[in-house]
Amino acid sequence: MENKVALVTGAARGIGLATTHLFIEQGWQVAMIDRDSAELRKSCRDIANAKAFEYDVSIPEQVDLMIDEVLTEFGQIDAVVNNAGVADFLPIGETDFSAWRRIMETNLDGVFLVSQAAIPALKQTKGAIVNIGSISGLRASTLRVAYGTSKAAVIHLTKQQAIELGDFGVRSNCVCPGPVKTKLAMAVHSPEIISAYLDAMPLGRYGNEREIAEVIAFLCSDKASYVTGQVIAADGGFETAGVGLPALRKAAEE
Ligand SMILES: NC(=O)c1ccc[n+]([C@@H]2O[C@H](COP(=O)([O-])OP(=O)(O)OC[C@H]3O[C@@H](n4cnc5c(N)ncnc54)[C@H](O)[C@@H]3O)[C@@H](O)[C@H]2O)c1
Repeated sequence: MENKVALVTGAARGIGLATTHLFIEQGWQVAMIDRDSAELRKSCRDIANAKAFEYDVSIPEQVDLMIDEVLTEFGQIDAVVNNAGVADFLPIGETDFSAWRRIMETNLDGVFLVSQAAIPALKQTKGAIVNIGSISGLRASTLRVAYGTSKAAVIHLTKQQAIELGDFGVRSNCVCPGPVKTKLAMAVHSPEIISAYLDAMPLGRYGNEREIAEVIAFLCSDKASYVTGQVIAADGGFETAGVGLPALRKAAEE
């Protein structure tokens, strides 16, 4: 059993909650962070060895308090999973500055702020950061000028962290999920978008939260002790596929 402490942001539901459950199964303690207090309390209630901390990762003062409170409670931080995220699908011409900032302040500023505030604690444990990007940060698509750009920036921020923090034995890696039917995705995936994704993916299906959590937990664990600065897509092969997958599938059947 690990007996280590993971801080997971956006832990009230979706991928963050699945990651929390997996850490707990593997013997970690988890600081569950979310700004949705009702959902957070509900999700945390029955999880032994996890504690809920209601904070907004996009607000610098809150982030500093959050790290202090987590350290007071647990005494150490061995892994930070920057998972809190928001999505919006808008045409480039209709993405006004407030819509742009709403995405950037959580998806990019939040990752920067939480990681930076956790650096002293991570240096002590020679810990790990896992940032959650997206396939939308690896491949451009319509309606994602803010979301895709925020996730591409998270991928580069991960590499910056790996370079600078490697001197202290701290690792940083990025997991880029493909589509998973969470509240975030279902708010922006219409039936047409869902079938377009299914067509474009070699594995031909959406992923589930647990499949993403497995990659996150691996990168936080000692099993990944020589892995840093890497970007891993857990995406059913979406990123690797070229054009015309449906047509080629059909041709292969004939
Ligand atoms: N679901 C997908 O298809 C998919 C695909 C690629 C990447 N991702 C990424 O995975 C991560 C998790 O997404 P999910 O699908 O589980 O979404 P979700 O909406 O189910 O969960 C996100 C959680 O983050 C919390 N949150 C949002 N902003 C916050 C903030 N500023 N401070 C604190 N908490 C905040 C929300 O309250 C929510 O509980 C996100 O970074 C998302 O961009 C998801």
